[in-house]
Amino acid sequence: MKRREQFTSRLAVVFAMAGSAIGLGNIWRFPYLVGQNGGAAFIFVYIIAVALLAIPVFLAECVIGRRGGSGTFGAMRKLAPGSKYRWAGLVTVVTPVVLLSFYSVVGGWSVDYLMKACMLRFTKDTTGVFDGLLSSAWESIFMHTTFMIGTAIVILLGVKKGIERFTKVTMPLLFILILVIVIFGLTLPGAGKGVEYLIKPDFTKITPSVIAAATGQAFFSMSLGVGTILTYASYVSKEENLMVSAWGTAVSDLLFALLAGFAIMPAVFAAGIEPGQGPGLIFDTLPYIFSQMSPWVGAMVSILFFLSVLVAALTSSISLLEVGVAYLVEEKGISRTKATIGLAALVWAIGVACSLSGGVFNFLDHLCSDWLMPFGGVLFAMFVGWKMSKADVRDELTNGGTRNIRIFNVAYFLIRYIAPIGVLGIFVTNLLR
Ligand code: PHE
Repeated sequence: MKRREQFTSRLAVVFAMAGSAIGLGNIWRFPYLVGQNGGAAFIFVYIIAVALLAIPVFLAECVIGRRGGSGTFGAMRKLAPGSKYRWAGLVTVVTPVVLLSFYSVVGGWSVDYLMKACMLRFTKDTTGVFDGLLSSAWESIFMHTTFMIGTAIVILLGVKKGIERFTKVTMPLLFILILVIVIFGLTLPGAGKGVEYLIKPDFTKITPSVIAAATGQAFFSMSLGVGTILTYASYVSKEENLMVSAWGTAVSDLLFALLAGFAIMPAVFAAGIEPGQGPGLIFDTLPYIFSQMSPWVGAMVSILFFLSVLVAALTSSISLLEVGVAYLVEEKGISRTKATIGLAALVWAIGVACSLSGGVFNFLDHLCSDWLMPFGGVLFAMFVGWKMSKADVRDELTNGGTRNIRIFNVAYFLIRYIAPIGVLGIFVTNLLR
């Protein structure tokens, strides 16, 4: 059999995984959920969810992917021939398609805002531009179409060329730009309230539904339960330390989310925007921020910012499409080109429905992060915790007993018990709320 392509350098692995993790989930979704779920208290719960549930599931996906050496179905079949767990593969074909459909709509909004930035639309106070955008379904559909075509083109270029090249350049740029916006945002009159909102937790705000939302967001943001990380891990070489990849991804992903929160919330309070308004939050707030900068600075920063958001969204969307494509190519023997175009078309069609209806959009958004992703994640964790032999799991996570020997037991306990029980608890909560 042909050897699978592998990432060329150690850093490339973390970059590619972080490239998948860091995306609209951090910049768009995290701030709007913080606003809907009580600010600092949500952030507090979120960090716990990342540590106790998301990181173990991330490790589980890495173990399956690298040990199995292929996409979800193939890996599970190889590791446990004939077991029912192979149906988890199904989740990982359905979920990315659903997720990508609304993700691509938001990606399209970024394309739209990039164009508006180029036309210097944000140099005067333009709060409320988002209303205009949403009221024009055609504009939304057109931009979503553009975004999907872009995603498909990158996938057609192949793993290394397509993915590595993008992530290396734009991540640092995005980081710097958000930092610039954070610093500028803090100088706005009234920004202090926003900072307080982000750092002073009101623990009475922690309700079951806040916990559920935070957990869902942890899965969403770290790209879990979909098979993305699993598929990427199958390209990772045996020498790589998986614990380091997990930590590296989790920490950088968290950092980006927090930075986005600090970029948005102070301005939300300065401008008197409603923090709990939902998915439009950053698209209403950013134009305000850019309009407050001096015109040329505002123009420059807004163009570069939306450009790098767009690339961050693309690195996530290509990783989503890649899961389904890998499945169709490896399991069904369909050509890469046909698989890519077929899946992209399906995603596009569902995305059109999301563009036309906010109800469909919200439904799919929550279906993914509150149900499908945790469900997929828990199956992976249980597969590793209960189906695979402990010796095999140890072998993967400690690189044959040479590393991470002490933390292995903690990680294994989290994978085997805490992640499944935690997610089950979340499901019950979701049913009751
Ligand atoms: N984690 C990505 C984000 O935060 C979204 C994503 C989910 C990407 C699942 C791939 C797989 O934007």
